Amino acid sequence: MEIFSRHHWHGAGFWLVAAGVALMSAAPRAQAQTPRTRQSASANADLAQRILETMLRVPGNQAGYRTVHAKGLVCQGTFTPSPDAASLSKAAHFQQVTPVVVRFSDGAPDPLIPDASANAGPRGLAIRFTLPDASVTDVVAMSHNGFVVANGEEFLALQTAIVSTDPTRPHPWPVETFLGSHPLAAKFVQDNQRVPASFATEAFFSNDAFVFVNAAGTRQVGRYQIRPVAGERDLTDAEASGKPSNFLIDDLKTRLAAGPVEFRLVVQIPNPGDATDDPSAVWPDDRRTIEVGRLTITSVVADSAAAEKALAFDPVRLTGGIELSDDGLPALRSLVYALAAAHRR
Ligand code: HEM
Repeated sequence: MEIFSRHHWHGAGFWLVAAGVALMSAAPRAQAQTPRTRQSASANADLAQRILETMLRVPGNQAGYRTVHAKGLVCQGTFTPSPDAASLSKAAHFQQVTPVVVRFSDGAPDPLIPDASANAGPRGLAIRFTLPDASVTDVVAMSHNGFVVANGEEFLALQTAIVSTDPTRPHPWPVETFLGSHPLAAKFVQDNQRVPASFATEAFFSNDAFVFVNAAGTRQVGRYQIRPVAGERDLTDAEASGKPSNFLIDDLKTRLAAGPVEFRLVVQIPNPGDATDDPSAVWPDDRRTIEVGRLTITSVVADSAAAEKALAFDPVRLTGGIELSDDGLPALRSLVYALAAAHRR
């Protein structure tokens, strides 16, 4: 099986490249240790700049589109909080129904990636809640539980390894060396080759942890999970191989024409000792979860292409009752997303 051809290399980009390499790489060695110090503001700004410059050199991305998650569809609906939501957070949308705009996406840098490609993942779901005072707050989630790396320095190292890899050169390529020493990253690219039956049968995860504060001032750290009410279902390889290029986008349009698509918004609560500062460290499934509400997606927006160009989600666009945790990644992501949005517009 040809997994990593020169054609592939030029056709897609990061997720494709990494996916191909994951299959070819030898058994992973121990996870490399990187110190997890919080960055100062200026160090973070410099790191963000270097990350975006490196991401923009990954083959596949195109001017005018997001440098990752380039292909997507913007939809709208409502969020209805559960009776338990207010016990976790005093945030306005945890108390009353709010309108939402969401963008579903393929994670690949290539805006023309076929939805059923093994290189299209992870899928994304970004949510913007419009609160009663007209302010907005975002949740930016992806379909893999566990981020590819623990922090921004490792993310830059991964991107650098990708853009330094020339598949005409002998092995080991820099990206193979990276994945060989980062087993969670190798697992991430391997897992992301699966193809969901629909965006409506995909689960999404914030990976990053936030602190929820209720009206009594009680603080609770947690991570978002967004679970499809239709149930989670993937395609078999045989099913995926026959799918048209835009099947996920078209399926969503068809479903929405027939009725709403729903997700449960859940917050996973760590046990004492679970790492809250490392988005690559997955908390086991037996951890307590609190269902905080239901996302009811009702329609595609009138002009999705114009809407996605105008939209720029931000993982730290929070609101009273939801705060940053000791996970340093969202603050860095926020800087990179702002630079990326300015670059693509
Ligand atoms: C070092 C860490 C990360 C970096 C540098 C990064 C970078 C980026 C960039 C540059 C964009 C394009 C933004 C734009 O043009 O508007 C983006 C989009 C996106 N990212 Fe990340 N990302 C990181 C981690 C994550 C994580 C942890 C998640 C979720 C668990 C995530 C989910 C998404 C999604 C869903 C989008 C598309 C948002 C939309 O639909 O507009 N990213 N990311």
